[in-house]
Amino acid sequence: MEVVRSLAGSSVAALAAVLLLSAGCGGGDEKAAETGVAPAGGAKVFADANCGGCHTLQAADASGTVGPNLDEVRPNVDRVERQVRKGGGSMPAFEDKLSDDQIREVSEFVATSAGSGEGESKKFTFEPDDKKIDDCNGDTQCIQQAFGNLASEDGPKAALTKLDEMQKTDSTIQSNCHPIAHMIGAGGLRHFDGNVGKAFVAGSATCGSGYYHGLLQWKLAGVEEDKAAEVARTACDDPEIKSNNFNYYQCQHGLGHGLMLYTGYELPIALTMCHGLSGEFEQVSCSGGVFMENLSSSFGLKTRWIRKDNLLYPCNIVSRQDKLYCYLLVSSRILPEVGWRWEKAADWCRKSEKDFVDICFQSYGRDASGTATQNPRQAKGYCARAGNGERECIFGAARDIMNNNSQDVRGGQFCSIVKRAHRSYCFFGLGTILGTQNADPAGKREACSKFARGRDLADCIDGATT
Ligand code: HEC
Repeated sequence: MEVVRSLAGSSVAALAAVLLLSAGCGGGDEKAAETGVAPAGGAKVFADANCGGCHTLQAADASGTVGPNLDEVRPNVDRVERQVRKGGGSMPAFEDKLSDDQIREVSEFVATSAGSGEGESKKFTFEPDDKKIDDCNGDTQCIQQAFGNLASEDGPKAALTKLDEMQKTDSTIQSNCHPIAHMIGAGGLRHFDGNVGKAFVAGSATCGSGYYHGLLQWKLAGVEEDKAAEVARTACDDPEIKSNNFNYYQCQHGLGHGLMLYTGYELPIALTMCHGLSGEFEQVSCSGGVFMENLSSSFGLKTRWIRKDNLLYPCNIVSRQDKLYCYLLVSSRILPEVGWRWEKAADWCRKSEKDFVDICFQSYGRDASGTATQNPRQAKGYCARAGNGERECIFGAARDIMNNNSQDVRGGQFCSIVKRAHRSYCFFGLGTILGTQNADPAGKREACSKFARGRDLADCIDGATT
């Protein structure tokens, strides 16, 4: 209870934001185009070292798919250099195979050409071509580019609407929906001449908010390392974005996703950049994006920051200030890995660091509600499998129902069917979310009275005012 009371205090708004994550993230795959021969300089090194056997880079006519698509990642010089020298993942180190000059050349080549097919000046923008969606014949690379083209020409709204329509009937588009939405972000940013604010308000959260993530990803693409923190700090500081809470949250959250892609899944660096943001809400929304990108990569990239042998990782090693938000998502890492065996997931939660066992079970409750698509009986059933974590599961589930839709009467229904011993805490949980949405006492009381009466109402109001 202690942790919960403190949780329900100052950071409630931030928590509410972080909980929105359950609906806000997705994954996907990508493929490549045509091969050819590369010209001189860094491009020659790129060809000779056979980087293209593993990477896609349009400027080098390379279409490898073993490693990340460099046009998509758009790493800066320092990052390419570091990676080429040391290797990592399944990429070999080139330190002993290439001279310092060659390494420098190839790094500059990749950094300046990635994502553009051209030189320095085009670094921040998406390059449209004449590809059309209808002519792509299921080629996912082509489809992404074509959606980017549409967004660049007619604006993101047109492209997102089309994506929404097509994903209902086209399975290729459906399974690539998130990366396509990222590309619409790229095209949308170009449509608005790099103005994130304008591009933001013209977008939508379709396909796990991929568009918002893409906007931030492309805003950061190619930015030099020493300028990245500043770009991050100012990216969402725009009156148009700030005038709408949802957009502002999406922007900071998308920034977290973007920072992970920018740093090449260097989780600690990305988190440090989130810590540099102006306030708690900003920092928390951002680090939520970082953790979510870590759990389900937008591009199927491999992260070093998850482990098969410890499903609580990286929550158990991140700094204290990041633990809360990491543990609030951790069950989404655990459950798929244990085959959705809820009892097993509960065992993992019990292995959490002492102060965070309850938080893990709240995350478990969020997933219980999410998996049950907010069905009270089903969610209750999952919570019953949490053993001694049932109470926190119920709290997490109640909050998820409200978070998903603050008018959903199933919130009250859920709390009315849980074990008597947990009822009060459940209504308290409903209140914690309603409290973030209603500033004044009268509003809080009114919101709670839609779900509860008598003792339950008092508990809900109690939650709304902590
Ligand atoms: C045998 C396949 C292979 C070859 C050859 C290869 N790479 Fe890689 N590369 C990878 C893989 C796999 C990764 C992802 C590593 C990881 O998981 O950390 C990667 C990562 C990278 C990254 C980091 C991308 C990011 O997300 O930050 C860059 C940059 C890169 N490679 C550039 C190159 C360059 C330049 C060359 C040629 C000198 C090259 N690679 C050769 C497989 C390869």
